[in-house]
Amino acid sequence: MKKLHIETYGCQMNTADSEVIATILAPEYTTTADIKEADLILLNTCSVRDNAEQRIHKRLAELKALKKRNPTLKIGVVGCMAERMKEKLLTAEDVVDLLVGPDAYRELPQMLQSGKNVSVELSESETYDDILPTRYDTNGISAFVSIMRGCQNYCSYCIVPYTRGKERSRNAQSILDEVRDLVNKGYKEVTLLGQNVNSYLFKSENETVNFAELISRVAEISPLLRVRFATSHPKDLSDELLKAMATHPNICRSIHLPVQSGSDRMLKVMNRKYTREWYLNRIQAIRHYLPDCAISTDVIAGFCTETEDDHQQTLSLFREVGYDSAFMFRYSVREGTLAQRHYEDDVPEETKIRRLEEIIQLQQRLSLQSNERDVGKTMEVLIEGVSKRSNSHWFGRNSQNKVVIFPKGDCKKGEYINVHIESCTSATLFGSVVEK
Ligand code: SAH
Ligand code: SF4
Ligand code: F3S
Repeated sequence: MKKLHIETYGCQMNTADSEVIATILAPEYTTTADIKEADLILLNTCSVRDNAEQRIHKRLAELKALKKRNPTLKIGVVGCMAERMKEKLLTAEDVVDLLVGPDAYRELPQMLQSGKNVSVELSESETYDDILPTRYDTNGISAFVSIMRGCQNYCSYCIVPYTRGKERSRNAQSILDEVRDLVNKGYKEVTLLGQNVNSYLFKSENETVNFAELISRVAEISPLLRVRFATSHPKDLSDELLKAMATHPNICRSIHLPVQSGSDRMLKVMNRKYTREWYLNRIQAIRHYLPDCAISTDVIAGFCTETEDDHQQTLSLFREVGYDSAFMFRYSVREGTLAQRHYEDDVPEETKIRRLEEIIQLQQRLSLQSNERDVGKTMEVLIEGVSKRSNSHWFGRNSQNKVVIFPKGDCKKGEYINVHIESCTSATLFGSVVEK
């Protein structure tokens, strides 16, 4: 058997895709974590920001030496960057043998045989729904399950609709079968993945399944299975979904609801299709149905035309919502997007950096406050593995997706355990196991 080494960059969907790729190649390749013994190296790439792509260029430069030593080694770039750059990447990077876009992974075995080196067709129907992914790099506890592909929201800054193609939902039955299989194999947590999971809609001859229905069915597979999902678009976050969460305690109390900006004017320029008021109304709905739900977000600082006042509105929205955590970015132009074609990237780099820093500073205080509210509480934690910093401590998460670290005692990986929280930082809760 030949050896395959996959490196995954970018979002969780890429992690799920790498598992699909490993499965497609399984008849000929086994995966290896050791890059030196690989016959084929695939980089599953991301184009969402310029620095994501710079990282790949750097990595490819590093791989040159390896290829010199082993001329039969094949190196492939797959995923969003292959889709965005297409043949341009072959000219820019002479180490690349193979370019495969997100909808063309089924072609990989044949391409490797025939020597065809580029396949970047997007599809309107591919969901890989018949492929039961091989979990090759797993803790055996949590798994990603892709439920839809693509995105057609065309937020003006975003490259994803161009790299991932049209939105399509995967067959509901195949999702349920995959989750059942994971449960049978001992998995305790699944995360249902899509760029906009709330718009999941699967129609078959005899039924139509929306996201609220799908997640309810997934949660009902086993009360011991934790169910998470990402990402939700605020425009589609329905009360029906929040009610479904409220009636299923094993759907985790954590919602990632990217806001991108607190200013109505910016939201319009971004083509986000909601207002600040709408967004805050959705936050209220979450608090109403799920009072103990953690809320996290994504935000972009310094998007085209952003003024100091727009930026202040983002800060005030952060204070108003009191996010538990956030992913914070400064805007980087992506070629071919609406913003690149219609707006000037007119916020100076140092202003972007300063605004981003202000958001990060504020969020750090909010995260710390959120964690401080948990000190003194006892909460259920799913043990995912050993803490990276201490061999004598477990690492796990609570329902709110917060990281909890505590001394091992006689607990086991994969167990649900009650932990009393004694202290915290802005990123982590520390506690000890309550007598079993
Ligand atoms: N589908 C998800 C997000 C996918 S991309 C959603 O709609 O929320 C993840 C995050 O990257 C986005 O939420 C956004 O905050 C950020 N992002 C996307 N394009 C960007 C760009 N050009 N510059 C900076 N950040 C960007
Ligand atoms: Fe990008 Fe918007 Fe689609 Fe998210 S919803 S992937 S930000 S276009
Ligand atoms: Fe990146 Fe593609 Fe995901 S651009 S964020 S890997 S969908």
